[in-house]
Amino acid sequence: MKNVLVTGGAGYIGSHTVLALVDYGYNPIIVDNFSNASPKVIDRLEKLANRPIKCYSIDCCDKKALEQVFVENEIFGVIHFAGYKAVGESVQKPLMYYQNNLISLLNVVEVMHEHNCLNLIFSSSATVYGAPKSVPIYEDFPLHVTNPYGRTKLMIEEILTDYVKANPEFKVALLRYFNPIGAHESGLIGEDPNGIPNNLMPYITQVCIGKLDHVRVFGNDYPTKDGTGVRDYVHVMDLAVGHSLTLKKMENCSENLLIYNLGTGKGSSVLDVIHEMEKAVGHSIKYEIVARRAGDIAECYANCDKAYQELGFKAKYNLFDMCKSSWNFQQKNPNGIK
Ligand code: UD1
Repeated sequence: MKNVLVTGGAGYIGSHTVLALVDYGYNPIIVDNFSNASPKVIDRLEKLANRPIKCYSIDCCDKKALEQVFVENEIFGVIHFAGYKAVGESVQKPLMYYQNNLISLLNVVEVMHEHNCLNLIFSSSATVYGAPKSVPIYEDFPLHVTNPYGRTKLMIEEILTDYVKANPEFKVALLRYFNPIGAHESGLIGEDPNGIPNNLMPYITQVCIGKLDHVRVFGNDYPTKDGTGVRDYVHVMDLAVGHSLTLKKMENCSENLLIYNLGTGKGSSVLDVIHEMEKAVGHSIKYEIVARRAGDIAECYANCDKAYQELGFKAKYNLFDMCKSSWNFQQKNPNGIK
């Protein structure tokens, strides 16, 4: 079995990807500093995978510690999720974002280089498209970012693009995620934000569980079907499978820079999500229309043909499945994974 190092493997997308890797016959090894995830996630992953999962509690900014992982294990590839991800916080603390997200990536690539590990998947985001000229968004659309978080994603894409030019034997896949929501069907792992959630789905589930009073809908005057923002919500388990398919592709292809949108190709409005969630929980959800959130765009959804044609990636879960599984996780973990 090939060892795949998953940085940020205890986090939301990372933990689900660990399970998908096991399903596809890889041996995931987790690196996480647990700054934004609970160590309990590892026990739960072992239970779900029905086998031990090696985990190193280290920070990717600590290059020596990272090197030790490569000394102790032969690593076939790395999936790099570890990083700060809150847009608002990045505007307040830009240096913290550049320091953490860029240094950890540089360490990962340098250590891979030293140990002749040649396959890297980077966890990028649709945020690199900024306000797109049109929708759906194709991979070759112009890139433009509006905040330090997004800029770290774009800078890392550029760094890796330069790196593969200089090192053609090294393969990189840039996966641009749209809006991941949902949770593993067991309800044992899911999105577990600290404090009041910034993103729509965890905010809605916390309203449903009674921790927050009502959903604030950020604007209903966008040029969309019902005036609220439209996004491409994709089930985190579909996204997780997308990583395994990408690794399989990297094992057999000659190209050394792969770029894919991972979404469903379908746009849903904020009100669509609230109404679908009402079906999943079986009662109405209180919401209020408030002002637009600074920096938000009207519509963002993917064209996913490239990922389908080249990886065989196709999202199998719909919005109702996503809502149901998010709700299941919230109900089973009313206070998160503690
Ligand atoms: C956000 C980030 C994006 C990041 C992604 C990661 C911003 C501007 N963008 O995407 O860079 O990659 O998260 O998950 O923060 N909404 C409400 N009420 C809420 C929360 C959200 O109406 O309480 C609306 C938003 O206006 C938007 C939609 O719901 O139309 C989705 O918002 P969110 O879940 O925060 O994701 P994005 O903003 O698309």
